[in-house]
Amino acid sequence: MPDAIAERETSAEGGAHRSRRHESAHKHVTGAAAYINDLPEAPGLLHVALGLSTRAHARLVSIDLDPVRAVPGVVLVLTAGDLPGENDTSPVGKHDEPLLAEGHVAFHGQPIYAVAAETREAARRAARAARIVYEDLPAVLDIETALADPVLVTPGATMQRGDWAAALDAAPRRLSGTMAIGGQEHFYLEGQVALAEPGEDDEVRIWCSTQHPSETQHIVAHALGVASHAVTVEVRRMGGAFGGKETQANPFACLAAIVAKKTGRAAKLRLDRDDDMIVTGKRHEFVVRYDVGYDDDGRIHAVDMLYAARCGYSADLSGPVTDRALFHADNCYFYPAVRLRSLPLKTNTCSNTAFRGFGGPQGMLGGERVIEEVAFATGLDPLEVRRRNFYGIGERDLTPYCQTVEDNVIADVVDTLVARCDYAARRATIRAANAAAPLIVRGIALTPVKFGISFTATQFNQAAALVHIYTDGSIAVNHGGTEMGQGLHTKIAQVAVEELQVDAGSVRVTATTTGKVPNTSATAASSGADLNGKAVQAAVRTLKDRLVTFAAEQYGVPPDTVAFLPGRVRIGNQDVPFAALIRQAYFARVQLSATGFYKTPKIHWDRDAGRGRPFYYFAYGAACVEVAVDTLTGEYRIERADIVHDCGRSLNPAIDIGQIEGGFVQGAGWLTTEELVWDAAGRLRTHAPSTYKIPACGDRPRVFNVHLLDNAASHEDTIFRSKAVGEPPLMLGIAVLHALSDAVASVGGWRVCPRLDAPATPERVLRAIETLRA
Ligand code: MTE
Ligand code: MOS
Repeated sequence: MPDAIAERETSAEGGAHRSRRHESAHKHVTGAAAYINDLPEAPGLLHVALGLSTRAHARLVSIDLDPVRAVPGVVLVLTAGDLPGENDTSPVGKHDEPLLAEGHVAFHGQPIYAVAAETREAARRAARAARIVYEDLPAVLDIETALADPVLVTPGATMQRGDWAAALDAAPRRLSGTMAIGGQEHFYLEGQVALAEPGEDDEVRIWCSTQHPSETQHIVAHALGVASHAVTVEVRRMGGAFGGKETQANPFACLAAIVAKKTGRAAKLRLDRDDDMIVTGKRHEFVVRYDVGYDDDGRIHAVDMLYAARCGYSADLSGPVTDRALFHADNCYFYPAVRLRSLPLKTNTCSNTAFRGFGGPQGMLGGERVIEEVAFATGLDPLEVRRRNFYGIGERDLTPYCQTVEDNVIADVVDTLVARCDYAARRATIRAANAAAPLIVRGIALTPVKFGISFTATQFNQAAALVHIYTDGSIAVNHGGTEMGQGLHTKIAQVAVEELQVDAGSVRVTATTTGKVPNTSATAASSGADLNGKAVQAAVRTLKDRLVTFAAEQYGVPPDTVAFLPGRVRIGNQDVPFAALIRQAYFARVQLSATGFYKTPKIHWDRDAGRGRPFYYFAYGAACVEVAVDTLTGEYRIERADIVHDCGRSLNPAIDIGQIEGGFVQGAGWLTTEELVWDAAGRLRTHAPSTYKIPACGDRPRVFNVHLLDNAASHEDTIFRSKAVGEPPLMLGIAVLHALSDAVASVGGWRVCPRLDAPATPERVLRAIETLRA
């Protein structure tokens, strides 16, 4: 009865739907929160550094490591031939990701050797010392080159419904175009890092900044050639991850573990920021080709889209990422007939990976470009075109992959936002003002978001928990999710508090470890609280059932007269302190520890057929953004952002608003100033904050209003009817690109679609303005 509990007036202070602060907030801001590099170092700890390829694609002719060994303090040097187990860290079993390059290198920055030394400085110096002879091979560095002769890292997908070709031909009007979408560096504050300590026999303990401790465990076991039971991976917290530690942490954990086992000493591998940016994968860059049939009223009749992605040298998660792009090409819009295709292209660049939204943002951006094109072609307000194409309820509700949109609240979200931000009046004011003062022009856009919640690989939608109640009444909760700043542990603690009605201080969520909860999924797909919250609830309910049975027998009352109230348990007509009941239960030999398990119901997905119900539900939101653009320089500012977002019955409004603000700003950064540049030799030139510009405090909207949708509750039986919030708000940032486009378009009297690509850096904005003027 989750809702009944939630609505009880006597609900515990730190329970569900309360704005509790993040459990580590005070430690984050005072510097007291320990990250892996802050953990005490065991005596004799070795530092590991990586020797990287200086070529984008080449045969390795020879590697002379003598100069490496000659560096004082060097203890061990490893190349591919020295590895004890399989030389592979592919997370998807493709065997296409060597831990250390063997025979040839496939991107500039690929690790060729690892060196362990007494100090970090010695290791880093030695990592530059090898004499390597390369024989260069032709390198494919960008999407356009790759498209000319496509080689795929993994098979692409097709989703189609209806006779799209005939519908395109029959539509009253038709247009086509291309959009380029840039990638994005995760820029987590804590870089990639792993610490390994050798244990007894083949055992090893690893502390790693990973979103996926179970996968890290399994891949380390492979790399060592030992069973998974010998490897324990622990994560207390990450200093941000954003998808960049879903698979990308694994090789560093492997190399630290191999050094630890070979030397019998603790080993730490912490990447330097520049190396981190050069070596690890990023958000996928895309080129989207679209062909759309529509009518004079702005209604879309048919869509045919091709999503080509730069995946890098290996598959990594590019299959599911490009799938998710297709899953979001529709965003909130009904396509009566549709074909969507993906091309996961192989290139000689770092292997691109998960990044907040997991391909969804790129998919949605392509769909929003189509809307924008139709708006310019018909002369309608883009918001009006959006509304006319929204999914309906009961009809026009079928996605391109044939899942019915059952929980559609987008009209409500957009209406609420339009009213709160005064969209229509401000749009009119801006148009008049731009005509009067065309030097600094303004632009406004309102874009919606619909994001599918669940891992599209059905098997990952499971979670488990282990909950102990100690005899003093304190409770230790362990679950499969990892904390990366998103507030998962806080929400999980709230679930336990809500169920038991104890005070917040008596529940501790302990560090995530593969030794307590096995075979977990990555904390990803925004599903951390959904999955692990339900698993913890199941474990706690098992404990409650045992306590109710015991209390009813002990006090001679019917079980339905036992209730968990704030700080006490009502048993018949008596109140017993929670801790007192626990002590009595212990003496009566009631088991005070339980596991819990959850698997998401209703979902299924047939990738070959392109049909199913991959998502349990959808999360919705909308943003209205106003920008000011200097038409002489292309520089701009976000003047105002208004957001209405649907968190269902939010588990923790304060944390959810934080996720929405952070997600929006991260999305805005992706589409504006964050530009990745590789040179003709395949070298990443933007490998430090000096050249790669993430949003700073001064870049946030001058006015920033975030509102959670009122009276919202998940359609489905999610944890206390809340909705996932981790990724969807990133896509609210799309409104920034469209507002910039609106401002640019004013230069041409709003007659021509500026076709502004991403990222819309000031240079690109200026070029678009000049093109319109010409
Ligand atoms: N918030 C913070 N502060 N740091 C992060 O690394 N990662 C995002 C999002 N919010 C992230 C974050 C990503 S990519 C995901 S998938 C979700 O959090 C994962 O956590 P959840 O499933 O518990 O929401
Ligand atoms: Mo998030 S990209 O699913 O880690």
